[in-house]
Amino acid sequence: MEHSILKRATAGFSFVLLGALALAGAVRGDSGTSKDVTVTLCDGESAMAIPGLKPGEILPRERAQEVAGEMLQAWRASQGEERWALWRSEAPAAPSQASPAAAVPGQPTKFTARDQMLWKREQDKWIAEGYKLYHSPTDLGGTTGVSCDMCHPDGSNTHPETYPKYQVQLKKTALLRDMINWCIQNPEKGKLLPEDDPRLRAVEAYILSTRKGVALEPGKH
Ligand code: HEC
Repeated sequence: MEHSILKRATAGFSFVLLGALALAGAVRGDSGTSKDVTVTLCDGESAMAIPGLKPGEILPRERAQEVAGEMLQAWRASQGEERWALWRSEAPAAPSQASPAAAVPGQPTKFTARDQMLWKREQDKWIAEGYKLYHSPTDLGGTTGVSCDMCHPDGSNTHPETYPKYQVQLKKTALLRDMINWCIQNPEKGKLLPEDDPRLRAVEAYILSTRKGVALEPGKH
């Protein structure tokens, strides 16, 4: 992918915004080496080198969390303060912002309470699996040590209720799973998962479970 903007982490938490790849090449080497792993952020435009991370290595959790923070700061630099304020206002407790939908009476059913209990158990298992994957740096195919929760604690800023919607990064109308896959490929530097991959389905289930009661607003940006 061509990156119109290249951002590199400096030793601290600040970023140098470089207008041209040529310039980036010129300063390469002031920290780490050109062989450091580079990741693309969720906007699909910004890229960031992870100082000291070589291909095949994986960051320990604490360092990965720092790097995730740095990646978010790079995203902030590209998006502007207004967008950032919105992001910040939601993390980390998105579920508490939910305005619960009015209770709808259950449908008449021939199934028993025991049936329902067994279904719920199955559902909970699936969501728990999604939770595990969402918090794992490797089980969705990520290669850097960064996991979803590091940028989206408790499902914050994932907005599953706004899908389907047109996503500029994807150049198409996306479903939630497309965006999950996008973040697997970019900040986590993993491989696209097939749509029927049980891991993708489980993460989708977990994310949706964090937004119970939030009104559906397909297309909302
Ligand atoms: C380094 C931080 C980072 C990591 C790690 C990350 N994301 Fe994201 N994610 C973002 C940012 C930033 C955006 C916003 C992109 C935009 O709208 O421009 C985003 C967007 C999304 C969206 C779309 C949100 C919306 O408003 O429509 C979903 C869904 C999502 N991420 C899920 C995930 C999942 C699942 C994972 C783990 C596989 C993950 N993300 C990992 C930073 C991250």
